[in-house]
Amino acid sequence: MTLTAEALTQLIINRRSTFPKQYVAGKKIDDAIIEQMLVNATWAPSHKLTEPWQFMVFTGEGLNQFANYQAAMYKEKEAASFKEDKYQKMQTNPLLASHIIAIGMNRSDKVPETEEIAAVSCAVQNMYLTATAYGVGCYWTTGGVTYYEEAKSFFGLTENDKLLGFLYVGEIAIPSVPGKRSPVSEKVKWIQ
Ligand SMILES: Cc1cc2nc3c(=O)[nH]c(=O)nc-3n(C[C@H](O)[C@H](O)[C@H](O)COP(=O)(O)O)c2cc1C
Repeated sequence: MTLTAEALTQLIINRRSTFPKQYVAGKKIDDAIIEQMLVNATWAPSHKLTEPWQFMVFTGEGLNQFANYQAAMYKEKEAASFKEDKYQKMQTNPLLASHIIAIGMNRSDKVPETEEIAAVSCAVQNMYLTATAYGVGCYWTTGGVTYYEEAKSFFGLTENDKLLGFLYVGEIAIPSVPGKRSPVSEKVKWIQ
């Protein structure tokens, strides 16, 4: 392994969420990069090696299907609080991306559910970092149809599984500004 600890730290610090409005609208990224992100996702840890991640990738015409599905679902479910601008955004935002990866958690019942969610989150971080290494933008969203029970089947998930959101991926036109974090000392207590 040739990656230095310093290079890894730089990769972690430079990972930023990049949102659809920052992408070169609809510009397609090489599928091989997306494949590498997905392979790296599967190298995440999971208790009892349940490998609870399950992904569905939308690109090309698939993005239209994704957009139509989430807009129609929004219209149906939120009839009482329907907002035309939100509906339009549901239709158009996905088309700014190159790929959208639906993030699913496949429930095994071998470990507590929180552990399965934790493992999938590790997998998503692997994808975030891989995208960063390739200079590709992405962000994890729990918007859209994430929390609609009915949406699970569209993404190949069953009742006991969970939809954890979507990783939007796109070519960066406008980079994110450097991130900020609280000092680690505020989050850590050493007992020695
Ligand atoms: C589980 C999870 C869900 C998120 N959902 C959303 C979301 O729905 N909308 C959004 O704008 N950002 C979402 N984000 C991205 C955060 O806004 C972003 O990570 C945060 O602002 C820190 O920025 P950074 O990723 O560039 O460090 C989500 C991040 C995580 C980990």
